[in-house]
Amino acid sequence: MDRIRIVGGKQLNGIIPISGAKNAALPLMIASLLTKDTLTLENLPRLADVAMLVRILGNHGVDYMVDGRRPGEAPNSGRTVHLTAKEIVDTTAPYELVSKMRASFWVIAPLLARMGVAKVSLPGGCAIGTRPVDLHLQGLKELGAEIEIEGGYVLAKAPKGGLHGAHIVFPKVSVGATHNVLLAAALAKGETVIENAAREPEIGDVADCLVKMGAKIDGIGTSVLRIQGRDRLEGAVHTVLPDRIETGTFAFAVAATGGDVTLDGAKAVHLKNALDVLAQTGAKVEEVANGIRVYRNGGAIEPVSVETQPFPGFPTDLQAQLMALLTRAAGTSVIRETIFENRFMHVQELARLGADIHLHGDTATIKGVKVLKGAPVMATDLRASVSLVIAGLMAEGVTTINRVYHLDRGFEQLEQKLSRCGAGIERISTG
Ligand code: EPZ
Repeated sequence: MDRIRIVGGKQLNGIIPISGAKNAALPLMIASLLTKDTLTLENLPRLADVAMLVRILGNHGVDYMVDGRRPGEAPNSGRTVHLTAKEIVDTTAPYELVSKMRASFWVIAPLLARMGVAKVSLPGGCAIGTRPVDLHLQGLKELGAEIEIEGGYVLAKAPKGGLHGAHIVFPKVSVGATHNVLLAAALAKGETVIENAAREPEIGDVADCLVKMGAKIDGIGTSVLRIQGRDRLEGAVHTVLPDRIETGTFAFAVAATGGDVTLDGAKAVHLKNALDVLAQTGAKVEEVANGIRVYRNGGAIEPVSVETQPFPGFPTDLQAQLMALLTRAAGTSVIRETIFENRFMHVQELARLGADIHLHGDTATIKGVKVLKGAPVMATDLRASVSLVIAGLMAEGVTTINRVYHLDRGFEQLEQKLSRCGAGIERISTG
């Protein structure tokens, strides 16, 4: 199992290219199930989760082709892939695959809409919380599906004549449930309205792609989506939007170590709240022509109080990274996690480096300390792991991170991107 070894205390200076967003790439790939034609996705990141979804989609009959690298193309530029679901050969998504990656549960929507049936394993809980799918099922039922749960599987069946439009009011904002209903409604008969839809930029990216495929969708980027379903959708070419969580992660890393970095290709509008918080901590943030420039030279890290919220609020996917930064603040900060009930696994690992964090229910109180000291730590989930990287970059001495496969799920070329900017970071492969 690979480990990451960090020698802390170095500033970050240079340019970091931002990859395509994992959390847009996954539902966009799943959208390929909606049509017999080819969906071409550009700027797809090279990630373990993407590779896993290729396997899952292959099981349903999706043909996958990757373009070779063009002359002069940077080794880390995103890939162009062609996904063709000419025939759906299997409408079952088995436990062995769905349990490896929660987002694969979302195949239920296109399978049901196109084939009239789907049998998809319940995804189960994970390190950050119980993560039920009741809202997904509520949405699909309102589109006319009959749903039964049997042996850990969701058995979904469309009514005679297929799914139909509906007026769905979600009692709670859910990214996944919004994706699921959006995908199903694109092939349902008539109009579907989703109220209290998630507004995350990745939802907008999927909606934009569905429009290119022939769906009519109003209200993209707002909490009310109106979708006119179509009998069939067509192929399209779509570019995956830049990863706002990767952007925020590197922005917090620069604020943590000091230095001056341009996040190339990043879109500030996708993480305005997080960048405002970053500015409150004393870092300088500027929108530049090709992305975002973040710098901090010498000044103290100021404490802040933040609570995680659905978009456009502060993202839960950046909570751990912010906490790592605040461990060295000149004062006491407070972070409240309102999205997931158990997303504080990084706290005990940060404490191993000398952080002073007190947990009470959904709230973490972080007293800034003068120094962190390197130590061996354990990665627990994707975003928690990268918060340990940030802490390791700030710490004196050597930090070794174990179980780095969590990082490979969602960060493309993390060590390379950081070491090119001066970080002392390397991967140690143990075979
Ligand atoms: C998506 O997960 C992201 N995953 C997560 O990113 C992200 O943390 C999360 O949205 C919130 O922004 C992908 O896009 C692949 P939700 P999702 O449904 O869709 C509750 C990462 O690190 N809920 O918006 O699963 C749920 O338990 C990952 O990249 C229900 O109660 O999140 C949670 O408390 C981790 N019933 C809240 O809603 C439901 O049916 C928000 O979850 C569905 C959700």
